[in-house]
Amino acid sequence: MESRREEESLKALYKDAFHIGAAVNPLTIDSQRSLLAYHFNSLTAENEMKFSSLHPEENLYTFENADVIAAFAREQGMALRGHTLVWHNQTPDWLFENETGGKAERDLLLERLRSHIQTVVGRYKDVIYCWDVVNEVISDENDESAFLRPSKWLDIAGEDFIAKAFEFAHEADPQALLFYNDYNESNPHKRERIYRLVRSLLDQGVPIHGVGLQAHWNLYDPTLDDMRAAIERYAQLGLQLQLTELDVSVFRFDDRRTDLTRPEKGMLELQAERYESIFRLLYEYREHISAVTFWGAADDYTWLDHFPVRGRKNWPFLFDESHAPKPAYERVAQIPKRAAMEKK
Ligand code: GLA
Repeated sequence: MESRREEESLKALYKDAFHIGAAVNPLTIDSQRSLLAYHFNSLTAENEMKFSSLHPEENLYTFENADVIAAFAREQGMALRGHTLVWHNQTPDWLFENETGGKAERDLLLERLRSHIQTVVGRYKDVIYCWDVVNEVISDENDESAFLRPSKWLDIAGEDFIAKAFEFAHEADPQALLFYNDYNESNPHKRERIYRLVRSLLDQGVPIHGVGLQAHWNLYDPTLDDMRAAIERYAQLGLQLQLTELDVSVFRFDDRRTDLTRPEKGMLELQAERYESIFRLLYEYREHISAVTFWGAADDYTWLDHFPVRGRKNWPFLFDESHAPKPAYERVAQIPKRAAMEKK
């Protein structure tokens, strides 16, 4: 058992600004239970609601793990984000094949998508208030003419699988807030493509309510100016914004070192400064931002322990491996407190 927590709760400190969320899985809702309950008021399933996890074969749905997470959110009275309905990864091959093993026809693919969305969104209607409907369809290519990422979705159904997915989700749960979600969202080229996609969906009358900025960041990238420019640009769409997968890796993206077994001197201080400037920015734009979700909760469990460098440990969060607050927590906690004092 963990001892009683003495620091102030993040969800309480930020209650007038935005939800504080964490990605979880069936193991971490147990191993990080008291940390989650104390600091967070929103959850996202790390993998358990993706297509392959829920629907591995055409006639087989596997809801067990997703149900466990939904039950935890209900029990704790936490908000739950759905993640994710359409993606090029973690999606089974059967979806794109017809009965004879050839490429599925467009109508067949869209009908399968509709039926999947009806089933999944319908099942969690009572607890999931928003969905990442479409994840990562924008290209990262530098080539000026690049726009959408090549994928089986695009190949078979053409561009409008995106609009269709939003329409199906809206049909399945008219109350749910529907998001487009992507990474490298602060890169100026990609930002403009994301903006263009969402703008065109809005112009077509597609039901879309939010933009998810994944925010897989590190100590050095992106720059604060690029983050700010991205927030301002997406806010021009008139939609709500959320940071959906925030983590601050202590390594540059192309840093391959594997020698560290704990953070190097100075890293945690740099990370604290970085988190402070990030949360200042988010707090400043709180009218546009409805939730900030970390892609994990504490440094004992992060997908960055394996990616992009196999077996390398990382320390991207506000809480350490034993769930104690890091210097970064202290700095993030100060921001709303200071703002409240200045108001008086
Ligand atoms: C993307 C996806 C997430 C997750 C991360 C890596 O950002 O949206 O669901 O898979 O990659 O963990």
